[in-house]
Amino acid sequence: MGAQEQINELKNEFRELLLSTRREGIADLLAWLEETDFYSAPASTSKHGAYEGGLLNHSMNVYKLLANFNKNIKCDREDSLVIASLLHDVCKTNMYVKGIKNVKTPGKREWTEKEVYMIEDELPIGHGEKSVYLLMKHIDLTEEEAIAIRWHMSGYDDAARSYIGGITQSKAFEKYPLAPALAIADMYATYFAD
Ligand SMILES: [Fe+2]
Ligand SMILES: [Fe+2]
Repeated sequence: MGAQEQINELKNEFRELLLSTRREGIADLLAWLEETDFYSAPASTSKHGAYEGGLLNHSMNVYKLLANFNKNIKCDREDSLVIASLLHDVCKTNMYVKGIKNVKTPGKREWTEKEVYMIEDELPIGHGEKSVYLLMKHIDLTEEEAIAIRWHMSGYDDAARSYIGGITQSKAFEKYPLAPALAIADMYATYFAD
């Protein structure tokens, strides 16, 4: 299967899962995603999923892991699992641009030009915060979903490293098992399911 076919297949799966939640406004949200680069964007500039369709692939990986974790965490709302996992990184849409960077040729003195992804964040409101903000323009999120998406970066979120932020995040993790479960699934997908 070619790369584009693979992206199309994942995209169909992604759309069907979201439509299955029957959340009010979900069709509107999907129509908005069509206008963005969500389905072709990478998941990061150079670490995980730094290729076309990487963000879609990462989102599906997080969903599959989270659905599997749910045997233990018992989040009884299937729609929340789907929405939190598939849409946690919506903040990365329209954020990566291709550019040229000079990189050193290993073992040599010369530099060569390489096409790389770079970040141009037009809405610098924060990572999880931005996903919540963008999603709520189209659908309502439950408190559990909003908290899980906002804190999905776990200890990698700068806010979690401050005293008050750390307390807030740990309260969030205690209150809703979906929140730490999403953070764990996200990290697992980042390091093991690229
Ligand atoms: Fe993220
Ligand atoms: Fe992620």
